[in-house]
Amino acid sequence: MSKKLLLKHDHEPGIQTYEVYRKHGGYASVEKALRTMTPEAVVEEVKKSGLRGRGGAGFPTGMKWSFLAKPEGVPRYLVCNADESEPGTFKDRYLMSRIPHFLIEGMITSSFALGAKTSYIYVRGEYYYVIAILEKAIKEAYAAGWLGKNILGTGFDHDMYVQPGGGAYICGEETALLESLEGKRGNPRIKPPFPAVKGLWGCPTVVNNVETIAAVVPIVNDGGEAYAAIGIGKSTGTKLISASGHINKPGVYEIELGLPVEEFINSEEYCGGVWKGRKLKAVVAGGSSVPVLPADLIMKTAAGEPRLMSYESLADGGFASGTMLGSGGFIVMDETASVVKNLWTFARFYHHESCGQCSPCREGTGWMEKVLHKIVHGHGEMKDIDLLWDLQRKIEGNTICPLGDAAAWPVASAIRHFRSEFEEMINSHAVEHA
Ligand SMILES: Cc1cc2nc3c(=O)[nH]c(=O)nc-3n(C[C@H](O)[C@H](O)[C@H](O)COP(=O)(O)O)c2cc1C
Repeated sequence: MSKKLLLKHDHEPGIQTYEVYRKHGGYASVEKALRTMTPEAVVEEVKKSGLRGRGGAGFPTGMKWSFLAKPEGVPRYLVCNADESEPGTFKDRYLMSRIPHFLIEGMITSSFALGAKTSYIYVRGEYYYVIAILEKAIKEAYAAGWLGKNILGTGFDHDMYVQPGGGAYICGEETALLESLEGKRGNPRIKPPFPAVKGLWGCPTVVNNVETIAAVVPIVNDGGEAYAAIGIGKSTGTKLISASGHINKPGVYEIELGLPVEEFINSEEYCGGVWKGRKLKAVVAGGSSVPVLPADLIMKTAAGEPRLMSYESLADGGFASGTMLGSGGFIVMDETASVVKNLWTFARFYHHESCGQCSPCREGTGWMEKVLHKIVHGHGEMKDIDLLWDLQRKIEGNTICPLGDAAAWPVASAIRHFRSEFEEMINSHAVEHA
C-alpha cells in the first residue's frame, strides 16, 4: 500500500465539513506554524522537503517562495491556481471537492510563511459546484477562527477569497491568471518581471497549484525531512495522478513518486490493467501537453531501465524517447485507439484555447488543426506529415507562454513514434479516392 499524505481521509463520511476534518487532525499545521514556528522556519521546511510544484513544471516550491520580494509596506499575495483545464487532469477538482479544508489549511499555513495577509483561490469557472463547496468551507474556517483577524491570538491576520475563473485554459498560465484576477482579459505577461517580484496588482505574489499548497500541510506537520524520505531522488513525496482512458479503474490516485509505471497501469491498487483484455498502445503520461509515448517506451526507458513515475525517469531520454510527469494526467490508449485522431482532438483544443497574442501559436495551432482535420477526414497527403513537423518546430520556444510548446510537443512525439500510423491513414484513404 502506498503512503497517503493528501488522500488519507477522502472517503471519511462528512470530511467536507469542518467538524469532521478537525476531528481527523485538521488545522494542526496552522497551529504548529503560527504558535511554534517563524515564517522563515516554515519556508525552510518546505525547502528541505524537496517539494516541486504540482501544476506541471515541477519547479522547487521552497526556492520559489524564497524568491518572493519583501519591500517594506507593500502587500504580498498567495494565489492558488485551481484553474485545472488541461485535458486529462482532474486531481485538483477531486481534492477540493472531497476535502476542501485541506486546501484552506494549506493556504493559511503557506500564507503565514510568505507573510501574505490576503490569498485567492482562482478556480476554473466550470467547477461551479467546487466553488460552492470552497465558499462554504471558507465560511466555516472564519467561524472557527482560522481566518480573519488575530488568528489563534498570534497577531496574524488573513483573508481568503474564491475567484471563479474566466473559462479559458490560458487562464491557468500564472501571469494570465493574474491578469484575469485583476479583471482583465487573461493574456500571459512577458517575464521578467516574475510574479514573485511583480505579481497581483504589481505586488510580490506566489502562484502555486492546489496540490502543491495542500502538500505544505503534511510537510509542516511531519517535517520537511520526513516528506523528502518519501519518493525517489529529486522527486520527493507523493503525487496525485488523474488516470483515464482505456483502463479498468479510472480515477484519482495518490502514488509515492518512484512507483514503476508498469505497476501503476497493471496493479489492482491503481489502474487495474488495460480494459477488455486488450494490449497497451500508448500513454500520455502528464496531461495533454506532454509527448505521447508508445507502450514499450512508457514501460522501459530506451536504455532498458523500468520507467518510474517520477520527474526524472519519465523525462529520461529527452524528447527522443522520454516524456514528462507534467500535471499527472495519465491517459491510457489501448491497441484499438488512433493516436492520430486523438492528436486531432488535442489540436482542436489548443487552437481553440490559444489566446492569440503570439502569431506562431495563434496561426500555428490553427494550421496544425487544419492539416490534422484533412488527414483524419481522408484527404491527407504524405507531404502533410512534414508540414506538421515544420509547423510544430516553428511554434516551440517562440511564444510568450508555454501554451505553444504544449500544442507542439504532442504533434512532434506522435510523428516521432507513430509516423507509420499517419502513413497508413493517408494511404488507406488514397485507395478510397483512387
Ligand atoms: C496554458 C497553461 C495552462 C496552465 N494551467 C495550469 C493550471 O490549471 N493549474 C496549475 O496549477 N498550473 C497551470 N499552469 C502552470 C502555471 O503557469 C504555473 O506554473 C503553476 O501554477 C505554478 O504552480 P506550482 O509551482 O505549484 O506548480 C499552466 C501553464 C500554462 C502554460
